[in-house]
Amino acid sequence: MSCMSRQKIILGITGGIAAYKTPELIRRLKDRGADVQVVLTRSAREFVTETTLQAVSGLPVRTNLWDKEAEAAMGHIELARWADLVLIAPATAEIMARLASGAAPDLLTTLCLATGAPIAIAPAMNHVMWSNPAVQENRQKLADRGFRILGPADGDQACGESGPGRMLEPDDIVKAVTAPIAVAEVGPAPLAGKNVMITAGPTIEPIDPVRFISNRSSGKMGYALAASARDAGASVILISGPANIPLPDGVDSISVESAREMFAAVHANIDDVDIFVGAAAVGDYHAADVKPEKIKKSHENLSITLVKNPDILSSVARLKDGPFTVGFAAETENLHEHAFGKLENKNLDMIVANLVGKGRGFDKDDNAVEVFWHEGERAFPLMNKKTLAGELVTLIAERYQVSLQTDTKTELPSIAVRD
Ligand code: PMT
Repeated sequence: MSCMSRQKIILGITGGIAAYKTPELIRRLKDRGADVQVVLTRSAREFVTETTLQAVSGLPVRTNLWDKEAEAAMGHIELARWADLVLIAPATAEIMARLASGAAPDLLTTLCLATGAPIAIAPAMNHVMWSNPAVQENRQKLADRGFRILGPADGDQACGESGPGRMLEPDDIVKAVTAPIAVAEVGPAPLAGKNVMITAGPTIEPIDPVRFISNRSSGKMGYALAASARDAGASVILISGPANIPLPDGVDSISVESAREMFAAVHANIDDVDIFVGAAAVGDYHAADVKPEKIKKSHENLSITLVKNPDILSSVARLKDGPFTVGFAAETENLHEHAFGKLENKNLDMIVANLVGKGRGFDKDDNAVEVFWHEGERAFPLMNKKTLAGELVTLIAERYQVSLQTDTKTELPSIAVRD
C-alpha cells in the first residue's frame, strides 16, 4: 500500500451467523480510511443482504464469478490485483477447507488463488466444529502458507453453547488488519473543528411526585450519532433525557428531564454550534398543574390538562445565523408526507424520517430511515444504529459543506419558551 493511498480491502463474507456483524465491520474499516469491496458467497446471502452491504460499503457487492456486467466493470483478476488485503470474515469451516485444498468453485475462492495480496481469515463456527481435527488441519495448512488467522474468540455462541469459535468483534478485526490512521492517507476528518449539538432520549413530564408522562425512546440513536460526530472530528455536546445506556466517551453531556429543561439547556449552549441534530423524542405536552402530593385514586375518572411544550427544533432552526439544523420525524404512517411537512414547517435543513411503533425505531438496535433535504433524498435500509449513525454523519457533513456555499435559509420569527 502506498503511503498516500487508501487501503483497498476485499471483504469476503461466508455463510455463518456472524455475517450479521459485517455491516459494522465495513463501517469500522471505512472509518480507518479503507475502501471495502464486498464479495458475498451464496450461503452468506442467507444471513445478510446485498442492499445493506452496498449501502454501507458504497460499492456494488460482487457475488458471482459469471456475472458478465460486473466482470465488464472490474474482472475477477483485476479485483484480485486491486486488493491490498483480502479479509474473510466470518470464515466458515467450508471456506477454510476450500482454501486449504486450492479448490476454486466461486468468485471468492478464485480471487484468493489469483491475488498476490495477504489473506486474513476470521473463523466463526460452533466450538465442536472448530476443534474437529479436519478443521484444525486446514487451519494449520493455511497458517503455514502465510494466511493470517484472526481468532476465533472464546465465549457464548449463537447455538447456545460456549467455547472457542466466536468471530472476533469487528473492532478487534479492524485493529488487526489496518494500519494506524495517517491524516495524509484519509484526509482531514469531515467535521474537524466543528461544534455539533445533539439531543437524545426521551423527555419526562411529571404529573405528581411519583408519576410522569414519557415515551419509549432509549437514546440509542442519538448516542450513536454523538459518537459518530465525535469520530468525524467534531466537538460534541449531547443533551439527553433519561436514558439507561452509557454516555459515549469524549463528548460533553448535559442531563435533563423535561422538554422545557431540554429547551433551556439547548439555548444556553447554542451560540457556537455549527450543526444541531434533534434526535430526542421530546414530549409534546406537559401537565398544566403538577400536583405537589401523590394523586389519590378516589375518583372513577381522572382528567389531566396538558399544555403544549416549546418546539426545541423549530426554535433552533429559526435562530438568526443559527446552526445547520437536522430534525428527526418519528411517524407511524405517511412517512414522506409528514416528514416533508416537518422539513418545511420547522424551517429545517434536513430531516431524518423513521417509521416507529409495531417494534420499529424506538428502543431497537436497528433502524431504517429516509433522509430528505430541499434538493434531494436518500434512503438507508435497516441496519445497526451505530452503523447508520456513521452514514448519517457523513451525509450531514456533506450537506453542511454545501450549505456553507449556498445559504438559502429563510429567517422566521423566533419562538419563546411557554410555561
Ligand atoms: O432513542 P431510540 O430508542 O434509539 O429511538 C430513536 C428515535 C425513534 C427516538 C429517533 O430515531 C427519532 O425518531 N427521534 C425523534 C422523535 C420525535 O420526537 O419525533 P417527532 O416527529 O415527534 O418530532 C419531530 C422533531 O421535532 C424531532 O427532531 C424532535 O426532536 C423535535 N421536537 C419535537 C417536539 C418538541 N417539543 N421539540 C422538538 O425539538
